[in-house]
Amino acid sequence: MSLIKIRDLVKTYHVLEKEFKILDRLDMDMEDGEIFSIEGKSGIGKSTLLNLLGAMDGFDSGEVEVCGVSLGKLDEKGKEAFRAEKIAFIFQHHLLLPDFSALENVSIPLLIRGVSPGKAREEAMGMLDKVGLKDRYESFPSQLSGGESARVGVARALVAGKRLILADEPTGNLDRENSRNLMGLIQDLQKDLGFGLILVTHDMELAALAHRRNQIYQGKLRPLPVPQPG
Ligand SMILES: Nc1ncnc2c1ncn2[C@@H]1O[C@H](COP(=O)(O)OP(=O)(O)OP(=O)(O)O)[C@@H](O)[C@H]1O
Ligand SMILES: [Mg+2]
Repeated sequence: MSLIKIRDLVKTYHVLEKEFKILDRLDMDMEDGEIFSIEGKSGIGKSTLLNLLGAMDGFDSGEVEVCGVSLGKLDEKGKEAFRAEKIAFIFQHHLLLPDFSALENVSIPLLIRGVSPGKAREEAMGMLDKVGLKDRYESFPSQLSGGESARVGVARALVAGKRLILADEPTGNLDRENSRNLMGLIQDLQKDLGFGLILVTHDMELAALAHRRNQIYQGKLRPLPVPQPG
């Protein structure tokens, strides 16, 4: 099933009187359950595209359909509901809430969706167990290592069972070992849970997880070859 369909997307930014056309008649198609990379040099528009897909930012023209929702037609309230129901984000800086424990941070998306506190707690515990943090439920973000914070971020993104996860340089902040651990974890969870995942990254090792690799170039998305195993 189609998870994302974009046609003729144009996105410009204006800085003083200058206009920057970042995305220029871009097309994109992504299926349910795919891992899809978006690569390309710094400043080319990767985060811009990801933010558009998550209805965090608007666009000039074109058709953008994500999880069956046409984003161009949504007002602010519609965008909020779309994000709460359909999309999860994983960021480089995991943006955990500093005054809440790991368990509370992971419970929040469930509470927002109206799950009862007891059930939210139980599901959040299950997800923290899956990311290997069984003994860190009560730790606050300041008491977690970089790799552990990243795993809490992943648990929080996945706990609500969304079909589409948007990840912007999820390992960007980690050393090689932690980065490999997180990649392995994301890959296992994706196999297990079957969500669609967009990976924005400069990291070739991370990009190698993708079923389909793509690059932004001259405002458009173009496919990159995926190395065949063996
Ligand atoms: N709010 C904004 N207003 C004006 N210009 C912006 C804004 N946000 C981004 N840009 C410009 O748009 C271009 C694309 O930015 P974007 O953040 O999408 O790049 P990126 O591909 O994610 O780069 P990086 O790999 O460095 O994260 C850049 O040239 C940037 O300067
Ligand atoms: Mg970026």
